[in-house]
Amino acid sequence: MTKHIAVMGSGNGSNFEAIAEFFKDKDVNITCLSDNLNAYILERAKKRGIPNQYLPFEETAAYFGANDFDLIVLAGYMRILPDDVLELGKFINIHPSLLPAFKGKDAIQRAFFAGVKVSGVTVHWVNNELDGGKIIAQYPILISNVMHFDEFEKEIHSLEHQLYPIVIDKLLKDEVFDFSDLLNCGGCNGCH
Ligand code: GRF
Repeated sequence: MTKHIAVMGSGNGSNFEAIAEFFKDKDVNITCLSDNLNAYILERAKKRGIPNQYLPFEETAAYFGANDFDLIVLAGYMRILPDDVLELGKFINIHPSLLPAFKGKDAIQRAFFAGVKVSGVTVHWVNNELDGGKIIAQYPILISNVMHFDEFEKEIHSLEHQLYPIVIDKLLKDEVFDFSDLLNCGGCNGCH
């Protein structure tokens, strides 16, 4: 049966792009939503012919009250959703650190310049706390003493783009993510 997901973002939308690419030949319909009228994520959706819509934050509860999704995927969505919205669906988010470390903005920089030797990417359920819900999947990146910030940042984003679609796919199939799923994804550049 066809699954229907919403991807919500406020900005660039590179994770949306990776998700759209992964599901383009699969039985999954995507709707792209943004609380920012000028967000590039909406442009990306238009270019791909994917249904997209500006959704002001204040209208979020009414929207999800009227539209059903199998999963609602936050990807660079910059608002905290309240409980009356969260109870209307299953919401997940991706964060560029190994939660619960480095919650909030600029997590990639903060982790790197704190000098941590292992960081990574986390996919988690969304609750009403910033980057606070239960963890679904994580994948680590080792930071060597000779690694530059730019390289680390690139690796984090590349890992996000690999991990997120796989985890979404697993959740839609009611399966559990395992590290081997990522290693076998065959999807892109830069896998370890
Ligand atoms: C990603 O790093 C994601 O982990 C964080 O916000 C960023 C969104 O990037 N939550 P993009 O809009 O998907 O390019």
